[in-house]
Amino acid sequence: MTIDQAGRSRVAASEYAQYACLDELLQLQWPRTEAPAELSFIITTQVMELYFKLLHHEWVAACAKLDAGDVRGAIVDLRRGHGVQDALNASWEALRTLTPAEFDEFRDAFGAASGIQSELYRDLEQSLGVPYPSRPEVPSLEASAARLLERRGLAGGWREVYGHSADYPELIDLGEALFDAADRFTRWKQRHLLSVWRSMGSKQGSAGTSGADWLARGVHQKYLAELWDVRSEAWV
Ligand code: HEM
Repeated sequence: MTIDQAGRSRVAASEYAQYACLDELLQLQWPRTEAPAELSFIITTQVMELYFKLLHHEWVAACAKLDAGDVRGAIVDLRRGHGVQDALNASWEALRTLTPAEFDEFRDAFGAASGIQSELYRDLEQSLGVPYPSRPEVPSLEASAARLLERRGLAGGWREVYGHSADYPELIDLGEALFDAADRFTRWKQRHLLSVWRSMGSKQGSAGTSGADWLARGVHQKYLAELWDVRSEAWV
């Protein structure tokens, strides 16, 4: 037991609580209403931002390996990222029961706040090949992979690799691991759209978009586009 500056007695934080900064972490949830469902909305958002951060960390590591020519190492990092993406996508479960009435109880309280303002989400999209010219350069899986192929004399890019797959088994593994990351990112967007349909139907979004209609238009955007394009070729 310790006494803090305000004279309150406190149980000393365990090593576990100190290591994970639990005192700080568990004080970061501030619902703005009495609505019971608001806490699940805040915590899911925070959990997803943490996973965005971890995923970005794995992808930056994968970029560094690609830039160093270490394809195996990059695949290991991407696979670790797939696990993070699976956990991220499963996080939607915590919001699966949010009804429109429950959502409306706290919706006004967050004003124009919207995930559309998420910086980490844009970093991830940029890594998957979406150009955001106004943003500072972030390591990009697409660009690092393209540079690697170029250095190996594969000027035709992924088309050339997939066209001669028996000659490039390691690069095919890399291409598929990258595709798996893009595929999982799209699945996050699909789950998001389903949650939006379920909890607010076709109402306008808090950032001023048309909401679900706007999201539906972007949901099947092809990240790492060249890896999708090669699938339309005839490979016999
Ligand atoms: C039921 C819960 C949710 C609803 C109803 C919802 C609704 C929306 C809507 C309508 C938009 C379009 C932009 C706007 O006008 O606001 C949007 C965008 C977005 N939301 Fe959510 N959202 C929910 C949960 C979340 C959570 C938990 C996250 C996690 C961080 C998140 C992240 C995003 C992101 C990243 C975008 C931008 C998507 C893009 O640009 O493709 N949302 N959301």
